[in-house]
Amino acid sequence: MQGLIFAHLFLLGFFCLKAASSVVWKRAVMPANGSVRVATYNLRFDSMPDNITVQQTLAALPDPLTAPPFLGKTGEQPWSTRRIKVWQDLMSEGVVLFGIQEGLVRQVNDLATLLGSEWAWIGVGRDDGKQAGEFSAIFYNKNFIELREWDTFWLSNTPFDVSRFPGAGSLRICTAARMTLKTTSGPINFSYLNTHLDDQSDGQRRLGASLILQRARFEAFHSQGGPVIVTGDFNSPSTGTDSGAYMIATGALPPEPINATFAQTFAVPNGTLTNFVLDDLKAKAPRANVGGNFATFTGFNSPGDTASFTRIDFVFGGSNGKWTATQYKVGTSLTDDGVLASDHRPVFADITLQ
Ligand SMILES: *[C@@H]1O[C@H](CO)[C@@H](O)[C@H](O)[C@H]1NC(C)=O
Ligand SMILES: *[C@@H]1O[C@H](CO)[C@@H](O)[C@H](O)[C@H]1NC(C)=O
Ligand SMILES: *[C@@H]1O[C@H](CO)[C@@H](O)[C@H](O)[C@H]1NC(C)=O
Ligand SMILES: *[C@@H]1O[C@H](CO)[C@@H](O)[C@H](O)[C@H]1NC(C)=O
Ligand SMILES: *[C@@H]1O[C@H](CO)[C@@H](O)[C@H](O)[C@H]1NC(C)=O
Repeated sequence: MQGLIFAHLFLLGFFCLKAASSVVWKRAVMPANGSVRVATYNLRFDSMPDNITVQQTLAALPDPLTAPPFLGKTGEQPWSTRRIKVWQDLMSEGVVLFGIQEGLVRQVNDLATLLGSEWAWIGVGRDDGKQAGEFSAIFYNKNFIELREWDTFWLSNTPFDVSRFPGAGSLRICTAARMTLKTTSGPINFSYLNTHLDDQSDGQRRLGASLILQRARFEAFHSQGGPVIVTGDFNSPSTGTDSGAYMIATGALPPEPINATFAQTFAVPNGTLTNFVLDDLKAKAPRANVGGNFATFTGFNSPGDTASFTRIDFVFGGSNGKWTATQYKVGTSLTDDGVLASDHRPVFADITLQ
């Protein structure tokens, strides 16, 4: 009897695993013109860890035909509950490339499990350059995107070392990738940077934006003018007292002085890309195609806690161009059961790379 139950559990686990990796949401097709759907999603770190496996969560999903108590749950739910919704939010939109923030190693591994073998990811834990702390990882669908090179730098005064900016709440990183989009009319090289700036130190955010701007400009130079995409949680809205990082990124304020070794490593020849900035794709897509919500951060008391609503998660394109933003949407994390997949919302952008 016990053996039978175990066999049953085993089979159940097996089928769930299989289902997870073969679910076809909105199927992305090989583009003819370089279009790629990108997302950025701050997952909220796994602050209520448990030992529930992905397979256990899948096996325990409620009957989809039965209505849950409307907004029955309130506040933050464990990652083991949120992760299925995060994955569904991304996959139902046909995303082929996305950056996450706040993911601990368990979260990154869980997403990789749910995404299945068509996907791969890059990134390191910010606290040791290995597995400790939060990852600003990049996930990509291998059917459409090929990874050529990648690295991580720290958003501090010593960017090539595992390090924290004085006064910052945490160590902060940027994951930088050189990738190739496969299209039916040939490959397109591009660079992609994904980051999470500090929540406490405006100085860190300004320095972080300055380092990222320098690196993004170098990527544009390195790729002979190829497209550069930057996503992230900047903890910096476009206006107000905390807007310094956004303003530096978009050219409204000059960059801050950065580490000389970094500046030299990622220097471009004088007279090249002199006015390079990052363009906010929300302002570049045709207005009719900009939809969804305004705020990208809601907190876990949504929808009541309107005071914390802010737009701090962005998708940028390097001002050297070679891209067209065709669509932009801030999604939602809240479902009828009251579960918020995260205290942030996913941000989606359709970009046509040239
Ligand atoms: C590229 O093609 C997609 C459909 O495949 C379309 O939605 C998009 O607007 C096109 N991009 C441009 C810049 O025309
Ligand atoms: C998870 O499992 C480990 C090892 O079995 C145990 O030490 C830990 O306390 C468990 N954590 C929780 C939250 O149950
Ligand atoms: C710049 O960064 C490098 C590598 O992280 C470090 O060795 C060097 O000391 C830094 N320079 C200054 C002036 O802090
Ligand atoms: C992409 O970059 C690689 C170098 O990393 C280069 O060999 C290749 O020719 C480039 N492809 C295109 C389409 O520009
Ligand atoms: C580039 O310009 C700066 C200041 O305009 C100057 O200090 C530097 O020497 C120049 N570098 C080269 C390689 O010409």
